[in-house]
Amino acid sequence: MWVVKLGGSVSEKWGEIIKLLLELSDLNSDSNHNFLIIPGGGKLADYVRKLKCDDENAHWMAIAAMEMNAYYIASMGVRKLMPENFSEIEVSGVNVLLPYNLLLKNDELPHSWDVTSDSIAIWVAGKLKAKVIKVTDVDGIIIDGKLAEEINVSDLTFETCLDKYSPQLIKKFGVSVFICNGNYPERVKDYILREKALGTLVKV
Ligand SMILES: Nc1ncnc2c1ncn2[C@@H]1O[C@H](COP(=O)(O)OP(=O)(O)O)[C@@H](O)[C@H]1O
Ligand SMILES: [Mg+2]
Repeated sequence: MWVVKLGGSVSEKWGEIIKLLLELSDLNSDSNHNFLIIPGGGKLADYVRKLKCDDENAHWMAIAAMEMNAYYIASMGVRKLMPENFSEIEVSGVNVLLPYNLLLKNDELPHSWDVTSDSIAIWVAGKLKAKVIKVTDVDGIIIDGKLAEEINVSDLTFETCLDKYSPQLIKKFGVSVFICNGNYPERVKDYILREKALGTLVKV
């Protein structure tokens, strides 16, 4: 099973990526993968950022932004999951997580802007023992202008396209994260089919 974090930065590509995931999950095809999509907050979360309110309230507003995007993703033919606990999550085909209630009942992550949907995706993947693909608007982690194909999580000591809290969760749960550019949906497909594609693999 894959956890796929769909970044708000590539929201205009969500439809194309979802179509591809639906094909890859088709029971009648050779590949038969299951996906849990974690939506980014995108423009809605950027709006919350601009309000400059306290971290506590901003945290729940940002989760609500993810929740709204989850409904949008559901409108593209994706099955909604609205669990209160991890034991209720059964991923079959392409599913999207509505995160609000799960976070409310399992309030384990800090309420700060260091925790965004990246951390939430890694946390969920850690609990469900899944691998993560982060789909964003850059090719992967760029170091000195060059794409890093692989990087150990302990070397993530600089600013990257992952949020600040993600490295801790990657270490804690031992989950790997593959980062790739959603403007090229075939890279997402290549990684799912061959576990090799243009992007960055963050290893534990
Ligand atoms: N070292 C880095 N490598 C790659 N991207 C980086 C790095 N440092 C900062 N970024 C920024 O991270 C952005 C992607 O993260 P973000 O804006 O949160 O989008 P999303 O949540 O949609 O994935 C990139 O557009 C890039 O500007
Ligand atoms: Mg982000």
